[in-house]
Amino acid sequence: MRLAAAAIALALSAGAASAELARLAGHGGPIRDVAATQGGALSASFDNAVGVWTLGADGPLLARWLDGHEAAVNRVVPAPGGRAFSVADDFTAILWDVETGAALRRFEGHRGKVMGAAISPDGRLAATASWDGTAALWPLDGDGPPRWIGERLGALNDVAFSGDGRTLYLASGDGTIREVDAASGEVTRTLVSHGFGVNRIALNEAEGWLAYGAVDGGTRAVDLVTGETLADLTLDRRPILALALSPDGETLAVGDGDGYIMLVDARDWSIARDFRAAARGPVWALAFTDDGAAIIAGGLDDAAAIWPLATAGAPRGALAAGAAPRFHRDPATMGNGERQFFRKCSICHSLDTEGDRRAGPTLKGVFGRRAGTVAGYAYSDALDGSPIVWDETTISALFDIGPDHYVPGTKMPMQRITGAKDRADLIAFLKEATRP
Ligand code: HEC
Repeated sequence: MRLAAAAIALALSAGAASAELARLAGHGGPIRDVAATQGGALSASFDNAVGVWTLGADGPLLARWLDGHEAAVNRVVPAPGGRAFSVADDFTAILWDVETGAALRRFEGHRGKVMGAAISPDGRLAATASWDGTAALWPLDGDGPPRWIGERLGALNDVAFSGDGRTLYLASGDGTIREVDAASGEVTRTLVSHGFGVNRIALNEAEGWLAYGAVDGGTRAVDLVTGETLADLTLDRRPILALALSPDGETLAVGDGDGYIMLVDARDWSIARDFRAAARGPVWALAFTDDGAAIIAGGLDDAAAIWPLATAGAPRGALAAGAAPRFHRDPATMGNGERQFFRKCSICHSLDTEGDRRAGPTLKGVFGRRAGTVAGYAYSDALDGSPIVWDETTISALFDIGPDHYVPGTKMPMQRITGAKDRADLIAFLKEATRP
């Protein structure tokens, strides 16, 4: 399936102020990553889920959710045989059957958030890169053990395979891009020493270059053989959070912390287009559709946007064409309790039950409720069947000593609110706002 011209015309004539074609809407949290599939897309979200989408003439349609991670999903990549591979803040990776939504296998062993994922060119291995300072190669068929790479390679943010599958490139928070021999797991050389953390890499082996984006805004393409800089595309924006290469390898898309997408013509390294894609906040998810006709971008908003390349970047547009992302309300207009909630809770909890797909259960009616009892929410074993009843005292204690101490084993992240007044204000706000 292709993004039919009719659909593009339709979306444009609908009078959208932006040139955005359509949106992948339904996630309950920011979009961390997107990837193209044949005639469709995958999205990875802070809401712990992966979305499977088809991009037909009628616009994007949600096919299903892949539910199974216990924290934000950072990357998702298609794998051969109708599968997908995702990595998450829960330190694991999962191989999915995209058609049925089944988790075929869960890969455990990393001791930190897993940020990077890549599938080998022959489709037999998945590579993961983690903030625990290691990378790993996992056989996708059978249940063989992983091959571990490195120990102290810094916080690894991204990984890519060479075209022959023999070399791995690892981008690290320590400012380097290392080459690793995939067969032995040995680091063979440091291709780039950038000095500032490298967030993302994109490889065009046919043309012999690797592009990278870094925390300081550094955006460069280097020669894969000599490591020399071929092009310095650095603008005054930072950090660089996303890179994507068009299917023909001729366009490099760069997403940054200021919400811009820059499209670079990689044949002569000229900047073809540069436009503000996110009204506020960063662009940290980018992918070209399989036909190369559009680019999918995600950030703080719960929906990713699809931009037809023919019109993207003409005028200004916004990822959030409709309402502003919910946690961008002006804090000055809120009382302290509401501000606490918006800053510290709202990304994972809603106050109602409509279309709620956030990482945590709805807090509607939480006062007087037994812990772990929102129907349909997959709690951790720690909360499921817990005798705790949520009220002013227990919610206050939860954030006074921190969820990890109050309910050991919970999947709620470590977070404390040490100020007694902030806790009291938050609870007073919640009591009103969560009233059933
Ligand atoms: C990054 C995501 C995240 C943030 C931020 C977060 N929570 Fe949670 N919260 C969760 C998850 C996930 C669970 C379910 C935990 C489990 O199953 O172990 C949860 C559970 C809860 C529960 C128990 C609900 C029940 O039905 O038993 C309460 C109460 C709660 N959170 C309150 C808060 C408040 C108040 C804040 C802000 C100060 C907050 N949370 C911030 C993810 C989050």
